[in-house]
Amino acid sequence: MNIKIKLIVATLSIGLFVVSCKKKDKVTCDGSNPKYNTEIKSIINNNCMPCHGPGGSDNNYSTYQTLLPTLNNGRFEKEVLTKKSMPQNKTMSNADLSKVRCWLDNGHLEN
Ligand code: HEC
Repeated sequence: MNIKIKLIVATLSIGLFVVSCKKKDKVTCDGSNPKYNTEIKSIINNNCMPCHGPGGSDNNYSTYQTLLPTLNNGRFEKEVLTKKSMPQNKTMSNADLSKVRCWLDNGHLEN
């Protein structure tokens, strides 16, 4: 490889690195201890419905019971906090993300 191409490749890699870090800012817990019934249910209703409702096209997250398998297999954390690929076509507020982080850290309790 000649030096010019090497330089271009290096610049592009650094750029990509910076962009990917920015997108996946790590979510931290704000120190609160929210429960499904008191705070998380409304966050899910606001951000995941109607797509994940009883008649939705994908998993039904309208109740604690139907959400539980997705919590236990780690998909919820992966999609919402790590990849931030859910909610689809929306961005959750940092305050809501932080609450979800706390909730998962504390064992995602119902009440
Ligand atoms: C605009 C519609 C829409 C919204 C809003 C949305 N989702 Fe999704 N979600 C989908 C679709 C469609 C799929 C399946 C296809 C895919 O993975 O992209 C999916 C897949 C998922 C999966 C992977 C399921 C599995 O078992 O592999 C998880 C977890 C998930 N969503 C969580 C959420 C959560 C939590 C929210 C709210 C914070 C949310 N989604 C909001 C449409 C949506």
